[in-house]
Amino acid sequence: MVNLVIDGQRVDAEEGWTILDAARYYGVEIPTLCHMDGLTPYSACRLCVVEVRRGERSRMVASCSCPVEVGMEVVTKSDRVKKARRMIIELMLATTPNSRTLQCLASEHGVTEVRFRGEDRRCILCGLCIRICDQQMRGGAIGFSQRGVDRTVSLPFHKTPEACRQCGACMYVCPVCELPCPGTLQPGELCNNCLNVVEIDAFPSAK
Ligand code: FES
Repeated sequence: MVNLVIDGQRVDAEEGWTILDAARYYGVEIPTLCHMDGLTPYSACRLCVVEVRRGERSRMVASCSCPVEVGMEVVTKSDRVKKARRMIIELMLATTPNSRTLQCLASEHGVTEVRFRGEDRRCILCGLCIRICDQQMRGGAIGFSQRGVDRTVSLPFHKTPEACRQCGACMYVCPVCELPCPGTLQPGELCNNCLNVVEIDAFPSAK
């Protein structure tokens, strides 16, 4: 067992757990985007950032990949953490402005403006699609290509490979290519309408 403190509470975690595992086990909510149980952590979005304090020192870590350690003091909602999460959401919105998930996150976390401008890429490069294709569907049909600002998810040679069974898992797990935000579609604007979103009836004929 690993003894640590999460938000002031002493807790016991299993060896090998991440901070996110321990937090969820004890009902402490930490937002995530690129994490999914059953897939290896990739720590791309950094939304799950928390503060780890040891004495006078503290550091910011991605909770989805940082293992628990004896004596660790984890703070999941400090001002520093909240500020970092707001900045992360803002940066992701700059390149994926019409994602309903991101717009909802912006509302939840008090992001009221996007100060950055970017090309609308409809992708936050979280790698979930690549990991589910490879690790769960055993397809390995997509991957990252290019580097830096040109980095993108693509098919090999831009052709659908035989390994792709068109199962749709990549789209199913994508946190940003689902239904677009029903609010304003102007880049850089936030609709903050998430609390008024009309539920979509996915099975109308079943009634
Ligand atoms: S959920 Fe941890 S970095 Fe994305």
